Amino acid sequence: MNLMLFGAPGAGKGTQAKFLIEKYNIPQISTGDILRAAIADKTDMGMEAKKFMDEGKLVPDSTIIGIIKDRLAESDCKNGFILDGFPRTLAQAEALSELMNNMGISLDKVISLNVPDELIVGRITGRRVCSKCGASFHVEFNPSKKEDECDYCGGELIIRKDDNAETVISRLDAYHTQTAPLIDFYTKMGVFMELDGTKDVSEVTADMFNALA
Ligand code: AP5
Ligand code: ZN
Repeated sequence: MNLMLFGAPGAGKGTQAKFLIEKYNIPQISTGDILRAAIADKTDMGMEAKKFMDEGKLVPDSTIIGIIKDRLAESDCKNGFILDGFPRTLAQAEALSELMNNMGISLDKVISLNVPDELIVGRITGRRVCSKCGASFHVEFNPSKKEDECDYCGGELIIRKDDNAETVISRLDAYHTQTAPLIDFYTKMGVFMELDGTKDVSEVTADMFNALA
């Protein structure tokens, strides 16, 4: 199954991706996680991307498309994958279509998690992420069992550098101007579906599994 999770920053893509991994045994491909790993490793690409990420701006398409091209060629993507946070521009979506065409595969579903902007700020400022596996928690809405410890791998929970009220505004702006036009792109392709992302985490998961059944 080749899936894409779509939605504003903080809509719950990463949170729901974890449940899809468990159910379908396919990898999550999060461009945000890949970029943060490159920053942690202090690679040239990571250092260049950091400038954009710290300001809540999108990283240039050429960098992102290169990342995805390499990642989709890895053997664990053979039985499917979950794209999370990619594509975010029309150029990225077109590059993905071309890549998948060349691989002889197609997208099964684009699942949009709809959450209004006014809820996004609270979600992002209360988020805690695992420094080891990238899992997302929320101090109020989705707390980890043990404070500061990841439920999945025991890693330390930290606050992402771009998770502040100021950066959220530019990330939302990037979403509305550069990413939202993809709704039309994937609707025309016949794979776009929307879920109410404001429900509890477990309800969103149930809706998502129903839609994919
Ligand atoms: P990225 O890492 O992709 O961040 P994002 O899109 O801003 O999305 P998030 O990871 O913040 O949100 P999410 O939807 O996964 O929400 P989560 O599940 O954590 O990108 C970061 C940066 O990298 C970008 O700004 C850009 O610079 C760059 N970048 C990445 N990809 C790029 C690309 N393709 N092109 C160009 N640049 C790129 O949930 C959020 C919070 O809400 C958590 O605390 C969670 O516990 C909580 N929550 C989740 N679900 C619920 C629920 N149902 N109810 C209540 N709370 C909930
Ligand atoms: Zn973890």
